[in-house]
Amino acid sequence: MCGIFGCIVKDANAAPTIHASLKRLEYRGYDSVGVATVQDGKLYLKKDQGKIDEVHAVHNLDDLPGNIGIGHTRWATHGAPLQINAHPHVDCSGQIAVVHNGIIENFSELKQELEGRGHVFKSKTDTEVIPHLIEENLRNNLSMSLADAVLETVKRLDGSYAIAVISTKEPDRIVCARHESPLVVGVNEKAVYCASDIPAFLPVTNKAVIVEDGELVTLSLGGYEIKKISDSKVVAREPKLIDWTPEMAVKQGYQHFMLKEIHEQPGTLRNTLRLQEHYLDLMATFLDRAHEVFLVACGTSYHACLASSYMFSKLAFLVTYPVIASEFVEQHGKSVNIDSTLLAVSQSGETADILAAVNAARQRAATILGLTNAIGSTLTRVSRVYIGQQSGPEIGVAATKTFTSQLSVLAGLALRLAKKRGKVSQDEMDFLAEKLEKLPDTVETVIQTQEEKVKQIAKKYKDAKAFFFLGRGISTATAYEGRLKLMEIAYVPAIAFPAGESKHGPISLVEPGFPVVFICPKDETYKTLIGNVMEMKARGASIIAVIEEGDEEIKRLADDYIEVPAGTPEVLSPISFVVPLQLLAYYMAVEKGYNPDTPRNLAKSVTVK
Ligand code: M6R
Repeated sequence: MCGIFGCIVKDANAAPTIHASLKRLEYRGYDSVGVATVQDGKLYLKKDQGKIDEVHAVHNLDDLPGNIGIGHTRWATHGAPLQINAHPHVDCSGQIAVVHNGIIENFSELKQELEGRGHVFKSKTDTEVIPHLIEENLRNNLSMSLADAVLETVKRLDGSYAIAVISTKEPDRIVCARHESPLVVGVNEKAVYCASDIPAFLPVTNKAVIVEDGELVTLSLGGYEIKKISDSKVVAREPKLIDWTPEMAVKQGYQHFMLKEIHEQPGTLRNTLRLQEHYLDLMATFLDRAHEVFLVACGTSYHACLASSYMFSKLAFLVTYPVIASEFVEQHGKSVNIDSTLLAVSQSGETADILAAVNAARQRAATILGLTNAIGSTLTRVSRVYIGQQSGPEIGVAATKTFTSQLSVLAGLALRLAKKRGKVSQDEMDFLAEKLEKLPDTVETVIQTQEEKVKQIAKKYKDAKAFFFLGRGISTATAYEGRLKLMEIAYVPAIAFPAGESKHGPISLVEPGFPVVFICPKDETYKTLIGNVMEMKARGASIIAVIEEGDEEIKRLADDYIEVPAGTPEVLSPISFVVPLQLLAYYMAVEKGYNPDTPRNLAKSVTVK
């Protein structure tokens, strides 16, 4: 997730407006920033790594001439957060500048093709193919307009994009386009704007036009023209009046960032699934060679590791050891050696306990692999191979969208490894890959169809003194995650166990009305799990079951149930089954009057041991 912005203003320089608007988009990414403007046939460009204020202090982002320009605030996906990778990116001639939010899946092929035609690339980003493709189109057809060159360019892109383009050749217009990344246009009497999000221009105009997927927009001081990319047909669309306060606008109308981030999951999962295959393949090769694999993490990331230990075992027949990072040195430190591999999973890439475990393992010559949401973080710097999960910045302290993305990367990794080891048939591989691709839609269905129901369940149980979360097999990890979410934001004491363990002690806590949440995918554990549900029911527990759609057997037993679409294979089930639990925790916190975004005593990134 990055923030893009562009504007053309009457009788004033654009740069100060771009700078101010990027500040309002900084929540979308903050590892580098850049601005480009055009005046008198010349392109002016300033960009660097760092937060906007840091870059402004060095380069003065307000000081660029021209009444037209574009800007970008970056959250790295392809290429480290370095000045060279910061946007805007330009063509060979330095006359076309582009800012981009999204992921171009076929950039390697395009880059190779363009290099073959003599184009010279400066960055490691996927974005840089765009200005070169536009340049190529204009070179091949001297009478082509910038808008047509952009149109022909985006037709060649696979993946997601929201882009804004300026050129010295047409210094009075910005061309922008979108596919699966957000883009809005704003207008007033003095200016026209395009941005990733309404807050960027809300202080200067509340008239916004939402650009739809597959549309290209040309902005000029005369207004805007929208065209369909597929057939160039002009689309008429009037601006809407936005009545959000600036605070509401940053949360896109959601009451809290956490709810916004839960709702973003279909989109973030789609982005995560766009990961470059070769990174997954490379990491799978390292895992294949390892004698022992430790999966090291804290909190929610640990739950992703726990779930993935089932994935690695079931799909690739690889035994892995999920370990809580703060225990790693005590538990395994002495036995780690050159043959050990440590896969560290950390959303922030800066968690002190994880880095301590990594350092200890490095000193003993172990191989370090990393999975993180923060390219450029310490974890990426100390890892032999790392994967960026591409979920965009997460502002709510409770991890939600980053958890489901971690799970989907780890599932993809387990699948690659299974293929490498010849442990799955072609049919099984195709089936699982197809189901993984469908998960964003499944999660979307869960949110659309079950949110209201979860809200009612939260109202019903809001005064409960404690909760149980139980699951079997891989759903144990889902249960642990549901419990952590509820505890950390709604402050409700909760216990999670593999359901089979409950009769070895915890069940003694149960008395009539005690809420027990069961995670019930119809997998190999299903029949035994029903026995566990009966045990709890017999003791008067209130059963809240997360079930597959149409599971009549558990519906009869449960006091309340939440339905998840059927047909997701067991190894992928945590991705859809955890979503109702995130919503439950969120609505419990809201019911109890707490702010779920900033739970007491917690920080987003825990950088102390
Ligand atoms: O950034 P990390 O993934 O390393 O963070 C790990 C934990 O601190 C984090 O998951 C924490 O447990 C969250 N508050 C969970 O919602």
